[in-house]
Amino acid sequence: MYDNNPTLTGIKKEIDETKQGQVFYQEKPLENGAENSNGKHFYIESYGCQMNFSDSEIVASILSEVGFQPTRALEEADLILVNTCSIREKAEETVRKRLRIFDKIKRQRPGTMVGVLGCMAERLKSKFLEEEKLVDIVIGPDAYRDLPNLVAGAEEGERGVNVLLSREETYADISPMRLDSNGVSAFISIMRGCNNMCSFCVVPFTRGRERSRDCFSIVSEAQDLYDRGYREVTLLGQNVDSYHWQNPENEQVVNFATLLEMVAQVHPDLRVRFSTSHPKDITDEVLHTMARYENICKYIHLPVQSGNSVVLERMNRTYDREWYMERVQAIYRIIPECAISSDIIAGFCGEQEHEHQETVSMVEWANYSMSYMFFYSERPGTLAARKYPDDVPMDVKKRRLQEIVNMQNQVSLRHNKADVGKTFKVLIEGDSKKSDKEFKGRNSQNKMIVFPKLDNLKPGDYAWVKVTGATSATLIGEISFP
Ligand code: 5AD
Ligand code: SF4
Repeated sequence: MYDNNPTLTGIKKEIDETKQGQVFYQEKPLENGAENSNGKHFYIESYGCQMNFSDSEIVASILSEVGFQPTRALEEADLILVNTCSIREKAEETVRKRLRIFDKIKRQRPGTMVGVLGCMAERLKSKFLEEEKLVDIVIGPDAYRDLPNLVAGAEEGERGVNVLLSREETYADISPMRLDSNGVSAFISIMRGCNNMCSFCVVPFTRGRERSRDCFSIVSEAQDLYDRGYREVTLLGQNVDSYHWQNPENEQVVNFATLLEMVAQVHPDLRVRFSTSHPKDITDEVLHTMARYENICKYIHLPVQSGNSVVLERMNRTYDREWYMERVQAIYRIIPECAISSDIIAGFCGEQEHEHQETVSMVEWANYSMSYMFFYSERPGTLAARKYPDDVPMDVKKRRLQEIVNMQNQVSLRHNKADVGKTFKVLIEGDSKKSDKEFKGRNSQNKMIVFPKLDNLKPGDYAWVKVTGATSATLIGEISFP
């Protein structure tokens, strides 16, 4: 279709070059909504965290109920949606570029509607409609049930906004439409919002107060996924360790350890992962539950943010270096084979050189299998923006970040090399990126292993794989037996 339209062909290159988010689509016939199709299509691009990707599946389900079908082809879309992230300035810039491109498409194809979803919608509210006039719909993370109304309004030429945050909304009753799925692993959202007030973070402002989802709806979603052939679920929340659901019928409280056990009991062949854990909240009870169940993966994402206690205090993380180290020791004591990963921020307000060095040394000491590493990006409205000057110069932030990255690369390589010669149970996810003669899959520690195919194996099967080689990013192996 681009090829028949010279202006669109011109912007096709721009479209491809600016796209960094993931596009959701579905190749198989729709599971729900197909029978009430209104002949219209939506296209959704997602940026940011796993929670956003999971939310896009809820949005897809809500839209399919009113007859919209997903498409991965922009040129086919009547409704273009961007699920946005505000966590760092760069994430917002990327989305702005995309919106300008969608605006061009809109002008070429009058009637096309564009909507902004997620954290940027919440942060910037009606600014998109009033000042920038780029979009038709602005809708925050707790208002997705209102999307059909806003779309109906937009079809009549009305611009609409709903950025109300809720204390109750968990979308518990909505069965997410699994889009762009490998059919093997899926996310299950178990809670929303965040009550922590890390001084650098915009999330409490964009996603509101913390609330936990009914544990029975979580277990039945996991059971349903297992019945449909999925073999791995990742329980998602901003801070899963503070999961807390009280049964209104008998007042019984379900905490995260109990929830984890309930999901693990769905089936021994269903792997259970979770993200993200907070060092102040992760309990020994959770670690013992992980140790008891073979199908709870031995991998914990435990963001440290900084290795220095003074910086941690300014970050309002409510733990110090010693507390964090004690939690890491508890993990390795209770689950010796566990892998730990981290999030790290370089160059936070007031960070001194020796404080930065403590972050570098933490990467080595904690023996992270991998980390997500960033330099500090001030976010308007956060505690840090109000309280502390963003005073580490950009070149220093970047140099410190590079030092952390270099250390993590060394540690990851060491971590992976230590796996050579070991045999792991791997859940096959699909073909490797490089070759259709190889499979890729993860071990319990969340490491990707690539290995030559055997005829009788397919995605969703488990295989025993012996590691024969390693880089800092991937393990290479061959089918073996334990
Ligand atoms: N600047 C840089 N990184 C940030 N993160 C959160 N807020 C900021 C910020 N203002 C990082 C943290 C968090 C991860 C999701 O993003 O490390 O754990
Ligand atoms: Fe996710 Fe946080 Fe980004 Fe929002 S700001 S999309 S919660 S990472």
